[in-house]
Amino acid sequence: MKQITLMLTLAAFGACVVLGCVKRSEPANSPILPPTESTPKNSAVKPIKSPGITEADDSLGTWLAVNPMRIKMRSMWVSCGEINAMASGAHGVIDFDTLESNAENIARKAKAFGDMWEVIRDANREMATQAKAGDWFESRFQSQRVWSACTDCHVENWSLETRGFLPETIEGWIDDGNSLGDVPYGNLRLSSTPHFLQIMFRMVGFLQRAIGAIDNNDEKVVLTSAQAIHEMANEQLELWRSVERHARKIVETAARNDVLGIDASYGKMTENCRTCHEKYVQDERLPLNPLPWKYGND
Ligand code: HEC
Ligand code: HEC
Repeated sequence: MKQITLMLTLAAFGACVVLGCVKRSEPANSPILPPTESTPKNSAVKPIKSPGITEADDSLGTWLAVNPMRIKMRSMWVSCGEINAMASGAHGVIDFDTLESNAENIARKAKAFGDMWEVIRDANREMATQAKAGDWFESRFQSQRVWSACTDCHVENWSLETRGFLPETIEGWIDDGNSLGDVPYGNLRLSSTPHFLQIMFRMVGFLQRAIGAIDNNDEKVVLTSAQAIHEMANEQLELWRSVERHARKIVETAARNDVLGIDASYGKMTENCRTCHEKYVQDERLPLNPLPWKYGND
């Protein structure tokens, strides 16, 4: 079902033409599901199978399946829980250093995401400005900056599996003693949510349209394409900046060995997590949204 949605998304944006088709033998999405009845309570000793990979028992396969974006999300989720527990005084004494570090963890991760979207937003805006000024060479250059910022996030945040690495790829590198040999690579294997992928395909579609229009000196199409990209990138940017701002407020409060107002900052910070998830995740996975404030005023 999810796979169908994804394939429709792919088809809708003609992504197969430009990016190569996604070949997967399992459902396109891999939510972290809550433990089912059949899961033994003390399953902690068993190796955790990463969802969505076929080579889960093989350590190299598990390595390749590590998804940095999800790792960052999970880390923020745990930090939300720790902030909540500590500032609520649940453990009797408040460890202000740990409180501060957890907020810093969220602020730093949110900043890193925000920074990437900001480069995209600004280069995209500059691409439009230069097209308007008739400097097509500079406009084209800015379009390359947009794409290179997109790639920065992909390289940093996709799993190696998504990027087409196979256990044999890494084994080949090791056997050869270098990475230059003729080793096998797999296909692009997307695993993110259909709604998040949808804005990705929309962005690449509009970027390509803009580049074509730059080549044809068609100002109008460059501007409308840039506007569409702007809306998507700017939304992501603002959500992350808001997470960062409120997390930073918690850092500052904790640094003064204080907890006053942390509940309100926590509420505002986590509202952004929920807003983005409601729009772009839309599945049943747990954990997903940060836990509510202990006293229920979140
Ligand atoms: C915050 C990080 C981030 C930024 C910035 C970002 N992407 Fe992505 N992109 C992702 C993630 C995560 C996926 C999904 C990977 C998966 O399914 O495992 C993805 C997937 C894609 C895909 C589908 C894979 C493919 O190559 O066919 C396209 C297309 C894409 N992005 C285009 C873009 C474009 C264009 C931009 C810039 C305008 C951009 N992305 C910016 C994180 C990002
Ligand atoms: C601008 C969008 C956005 C914001 C803001 C955001 N997330 Fe996410 N989050 C996502 C997307 C997209 C996914 C799904 C990623 C995937 O599976 O490829 C996700 C997934 C998650 C997951 C599930 C990870 C997994 O392993 O399945 C957790 C937990 C999470 N986010 C926590 C948080 C917390 C906590 C915050 C706020 C401090 C936050 N997120 C803010 C977009 C966002």
